[in-house]
Amino acid sequence: MTQPYPHGVVNGADSVTEIVLKAMSRTADPRLREIMASLVKHLHAFVREARPTEEEFETGLDFLMRVGQASGPEKNEMILLSDLLGLSTLVVLLNNEQGKGETDAALLGPFWREHSPICEAGESIARDPRGGEPLTVSGHVAGIDGKPIADALVDVWQASPVGLYETQDEHQPDHNLRGRFKTDAKGRFHFRTVRPAGYPVPTDGPCGEMLRAQDRHPYRPAHIHFMISKDGYKTLITQVFANDDDCISADVVFGVTPALSGDFRRQSDATWRLEYEFVMQPGDRRIPRPPLP
Ligand code: BEZ
Ligand code: FE
Repeated sequence: MTQPYPHGVVNGADSVTEIVLKAMSRTADPRLREIMASLVKHLHAFVREARPTEEEFETGLDFLMRVGQASGPEKNEMILLSDLLGLSTLVVLLNNEQGKGETDAALLGPFWREHSPICEAGESIARDPRGGEPLTVSGHVAGIDGKPIADALVDVWQASPVGLYETQDEHQPDHNLRGRFKTDAKGRFHFRTVRPAGYPVPTDGPCGEMLRAQDRHPYRPAHIHFMISKDGYKTLITQVFANDDDCISADVVFGVTPALSGDFRRQSDATWRLEYEFVMQPGDRRIPRPPLP
């Protein structure tokens, strides 16, 4: 058993933080030690500033407990809470540079699936006979040196014209609106699809209660997700948003940056076109863990 470590006794509110930090100071893993010390300092500072009553504190702990209980194989309410507080976007932006010419990164979101169909250039990912407004997406992938990146894997996924991902909707065929494409020798790819609609995040759990208490709507503007990977490049996980969506400046999970606003252009034959230039940084190819099992 770990020997008792005499970190001292608490003597008034002002003494608590130092004593807790001392109690945790023997954490062997230096990064864990650093993260936990920072968390305790900021949590204590938050409590000193907000001064919750004991009843408010109970309500807060009960809320977090219910967030955990609402999470499972179908839905991760914990990630949703982090998204709605802007934490997920902050972590993405702090871990991915901006302003050096590379494409802004955006949330992976809960709906990415591994192993979606490998598609030929130009193939349609719209596998639902109910259709939608046809959209052709053309992309170009280059490095920050401007040179095209050939043979990159472009994994795309999106919601349907009624704003549901295939995994949320029993009427859509398996892998509807998902596909993986390869860039050609000039770094280009293109595919056919239908225009996605914006959609609400789930509001049937404690996160929905929070949104209602804050008088916030639950919508994300229409978007298409992209994960572009190739050895030697930092995997680019991003989303391109429809610039004509009413919610473009009011994304409930704060994923939109000015550069990710995509020009969805209506054609004379009433179809849509989106062209987008993706720029990748040198780095490690890392494929994330799928958010849901
Ligand atoms: C998404 O983009 O798929 C998403 C992101 C955060 C919460 C819900 C959905
Ligand atoms: Fe999405």
